[in-house]
Amino acid sequence: MKEKILEIKDTALNKINLVISQDELNNLRIQYLGKKGEMTSVLKQLGSLSPEERAETGKFSNIAKQEIEKAIEEKQIVLENAVYDSIKEAEWIDISSPAKKAKSGRLHPITQIQNELENIFRSMGFGIFEGPEKEDDYHNFEALNIPKDHPARDMQDTFWLEDETLLRTHTSSVQIRTMENVKPPLQGISPGRVFRYEATDASHENTFYQVEGLMVGKDISVANLIYVMKTLLKEIFKKDVKIRLRPGYFPFVEPGFELDINCLICSGKGCSVCKQSGWVELLPCGLIHPNVLKMQGVDTEEYSGFAFGLGLNRLVMMRYGIDDIRHFMGGDIRFLDQF
Ligand code: FA5
Repeated sequence: MKEKILEIKDTALNKINLVISQDELNNLRIQYLGKKGEMTSVLKQLGSLSPEERAETGKFSNIAKQEIEKAIEEKQIVLENAVYDSIKEAEWIDISSPAKKAKSGRLHPITQIQNELENIFRSMGFGIFEGPEKEDDYHNFEALNIPKDHPARDMQDTFWLEDETLLRTHTSSVQIRTMENVKPPLQGISPGRVFRYEATDASHENTFYQVEGLMVGKDISVANLIYVMKTLLKEIFKKDVKIRLRPGYFPFVEPGFELDINCLICSGKGCSVCKQSGWVELLPCGLIHPNVLKMQGVDTEEYSGFAFGLGLNRLVMMRYGIDDIRHFMGGDIRFLDQF
């Protein structure tokens, strides 16, 4: 019987040694130490032995049983520690590591520069005026001295809507709305979104931003216009930028000018933004045409005025060295994160 007990014990210890899960260990406990377990069954046979043999074999079997119990207990601790180690590894926190910066939203670069412009103009005594993006023919064209069938309508390809209204092609429509509501002398700017039915490229979008400027008062001349333009550019770029003023045609100004900025993307050498010319059209402007003033009931003997229409996207491109206007509406968070 002693041999049988020894065999059961050795097999049990080997199996316990190889166990890798709690379930397996529980099964072995039942298999060897349970009520109907192998060790228990052997011990039940002790009664058939002589008193001397019973005492000796009983002692022997008790020691074997205790060895199995101890091996199971030790394995139990090893398995519990393994579980604990894996949890510890998964949940380990290094309290000394620097905290991750929380991602925060920010203003779009166009909005940031628009805010700067509004502050610059406010400091010069200009108000901020608004007008609708869905406009009528009168405010977008006719009141700006562009009657129906005037060839100048082709200068700005228009998104017409079904009810014969349109998406405004420029913020100049707000000049009219402002003069309808405010009597001269007046001075204001109107930043806003405009729309053109155009093919896009590095410097053209079909949806972009302009800032209209308007000043009507006594003795307003080209000198006032140039002073305001220069102040605006100096404040925005914080450095001297090369500009050129050339004649430009717009039916609502006379004389009209195109103010171009030396391309800051290529330093005037020529690139896709300036179409290899070294110059970017930025700020058309001029003295308000008397027809426009008269249509709003302004006495042109007493008052004159200037107006300009700044291309805001292009200004932001020059300020930050952005080489493609399509980035603004591209929705790429990596682009927006830079501002
Ligand atoms: C006008 O829109 C006139 N209303 C500006 C004006 C106002 C003239 C007051 C005189 C007095 P123009 O179409 O050139 O003009 O556009 C003005 C500016 O908007 C351009 O110089 C340019 O900077 C920008 N711009 C024009 N078209 C686009 C376009 N497709 N994508 C991006 N920017 C554009």
